[in-house]
Amino acid sequence: MKALVLKAKDVPLSWEDFPGPTPQAGEVVVEPQTAALNHRDVWITKGLYPGIVFPGILGSDGAGMLAGREVLINPNIGWGPNPRVQKRSYSILGMPKHGTMAEKVSVGEDRVHDKPPHLSWEEAAALPLAGMTAYRALFSRGALEAGEKVLITGIGGGVALFALQFALAAGAEVYVTSSSGGKIARAMEMGASGGAGYTQNGWEKELANQAGGFNLILDSAGGAGFSFFPKLCHYGARIVSYGGSKGAVPNFTPQSIFWKQISILGSTMASDEEFAEMLAFVSLHRIHPVIDSVYPITRAEEAFERLARGEQFGKVVFRVRD
Ligand SMILES: NC(=O)c1ccc[n+]([C@@H]2O[C@H](COP(=O)([O-])OP(=O)(O)OC[C@H]3O[C@@H](n4cnc5c(N)ncnc54)[C@H](OP(=O)(O)O)[C@@H]3O)[C@@H](O)[C@H]2O)c1
Repeated sequence: MKALVLKAKDVPLSWEDFPGPTPQAGEVVVEPQTAALNHRDVWITKGLYPGIVFPGILGSDGAGMLAGREVLINPNIGWGPNPRVQKRSYSILGMPKHGTMAEKVSVGEDRVHDKPPHLSWEEAAALPLAGMTAYRALFSRGALEAGEKVLITGIGGGVALFALQFALAAGAEVYVTSSSGGKIARAMEMGASGGAGYTQNGWEKELANQAGGFNLILDSAGGAGFSFFPKLCHYGARIVSYGGSKGAVPNFTPQSIFWKQISILGSTMASDEEFAEMLAFVSLHRIHPVIDSVYPITRAEEAFERLARGEQFGKVVFRVRD
């Protein structure tokens, strides 16, 4: 088969011949039509991820054919029985196990779900990893209720845009931040009530003026921006972190959270039950993932660079077959 092969860190990926998968007991071979990029894939190509093995095939997201069935793949491997937290041995499809950026991928047969019929191949590949992450962060960890005010930072991101769509469908009032005024405007066209540019001085005051305060904040950046969140929180608010792209949070004081009874919660991926709930939610509300761009997989390098530069608004998708 052909696959997008990662041979070493910081080396261009190449679409080339690679031995096909040998399914283990309980596994099936899916033939991806489409695969999608996540920031995880970018971190891995730069060597910034634990347990990288070479040569590897990236890709946690894929949709394709299995014995005449149109399916998409749950990228969880071994979440385990506890809905509160994954097992220590948990991993994600696409490193170390070979992923979806190939003509064939072997996955556990219980990883395979019917493709929601209202989704195109591109939309189906865009959904799994980012959709499940947004779903758990918003609902299971963030305990979002209708009518609450939510802040979603970095709205151009794949997870952030699903969080916007899911929160709106659940009846929340949503505000966003972004590096780009154009992305804020697009989020407002989708239903966001307001937003501010996180690169502008005073963005937090601007948000406070617009919204008054938030019941829930979803963030994947951390860094200096995070230290403003408690000030933006209502009493009893939750701050959910699902990533740390900008690193350590300076000037953070316990005083900023205890009087207002603020909860700071970490969130990663989602259990298999939440994955199935997320699919049902997307079908019920007929949500269409926001696709930034679609590339033939032979032009993968351009797609990785687009995500690494943060230019995207939504998911970057590969067509694996024409
Ligand atoms: N814990 C998990 O299970 C999990 C799952 C998925 C992703 N993640 C992590 O979450 C992060 C986002 O992943 P993704 O796949 O959604 O990435 P992505 O599509 O590449 O989006 C990244 C976005 O981060 C935003 N951003 C950059 N600097 C920021 C800042 N200082 N403040 C606020 N936002 C900022 C940008 O938003 P604008 O373009 O609007 O400026 C950018 O579009 C990554 O660190 C990833 O590793 C974690």
